[in-house]
Amino acid sequence: MTLPRKVKLVEVGPRDGLQNEPTPVATAVKIELIHRLQDAGLPVIEATAFVSPKWVPQMADNAQVMAGIRRKPGVSYPVLVPNRKGLDAALAAGAQEVVVFGAATETFSQKNTNCSIAEGLARFAEVCKEALAQRLKVRGDISVCLGCPYEGEVKPEAVVRVARALDDMGCYEITIADTIGVGTPGKTRATFEAVMKSIPMERLAGHFHDTYGQALANIYAALACGVATFDSSVAGLGGCPYAKGATGNVATEDVLYMLNGLGIDTGVDIAKLIAAGEYICGVLGRPTHSKAARALAAKAKAA
Ligand code: HMG
Ligand code: MG
Repeated sequence: MTLPRKVKLVEVGPRDGLQNEPTPVATAVKIELIHRLQDAGLPVIEATAFVSPKWVPQMADNAQVMAGIRRKPGVSYPVLVPNRKGLDAALAAGAQEVVVFGAATETFSQKNTNCSIAEGLARFAEVCKEALAQRLKVRGDISVCLGCPYEGEVKPEAVVRVARALDDMGCYEITIADTIGVGTPGKTRATFEAVMKSIPMERLAGHFHDTYGQALANIYAALACGVATFDSSVAGLGGCPYAKGATGNVATEDVLYMLNGLGIDTGVDIAKLIAAGEYICGVLGRPTHSKAARALAAKAKAA
């Protein structure tokens, strides 16, 4: 088994993390968090979402966030868009990369985007066509690939069908997401292996929530399949408002600690990353979910 020598970390804290916060987070805090994350060396930072503010009020300041970011050369700031209206708003805000997000089950698609899988894919096809014509990059996320809060078990074939559709419409990268963190390494491997029959592993990414404490093991299983792009969230913030019981994403600090230990290069500075996590946890008034951040902070204090 050969693991990738380099991994691209996609930081989703400002979007996936903050979309689930019960109390509003100030726009200036979101911008400061993004600045700290880019200073830590993260190459991709999901900045916000151009979704309906009636559905996710936490992302209503999307245009202000985009306007306030001091963009660092070489860093991408993808934003979620569910439909053409979202794409138009993202374009107006100067986005250069957008993320369409579908689901592997009908019920989750309805709960999250109020449409069937096929209706969602038709919207994404329109978004992709226009976005690609405007020279944007388009990423495709697939929710509930390893289990659904409404339908339970999800077959890899259901994931493959959506992945192929996103591939056909021109997504450069396709993200297999375990929205509610129920997956285990065997299921992770089986799902990636099934998708890899149609889409090369270099164009696949993993997005794991850590609800059942399986996220690092699942990342390791995906790494062993050759996957080299992973989403994670500083301090383990996050969750999906339409996936009840889902806790945060795997903490970026924990993923980085593991990758550093494996000698895998990411370009991210763990001390600066931990400081970014301390910043946002300080604002939110709660402790980090990252075990590595907690342990390293305690060690630094004791020294
Ligand atoms: P709908 O209610 O069916 O949409 O929602 P609609 O077209 O009937 O529009 C309803 C209202 O929303 C209208 O306003 C529209 O103009 C407006 P009104 O006329 O009532 O004043 N609207 C919009 N406003 C701003 N931006 C837009 C937009 N679209 C419509 N883009 C819709 C359908 C898809 C819009 C809605 O369901 C939605 O916004 N869903 C997004 C839910 C969401 O953001 N979930 C979290 C992100 S996904 C996630 O976290 C999973 C991920 O992390 C991977 C994983 O872990 O699985 C990515
Ligand atoms: Mg998520």
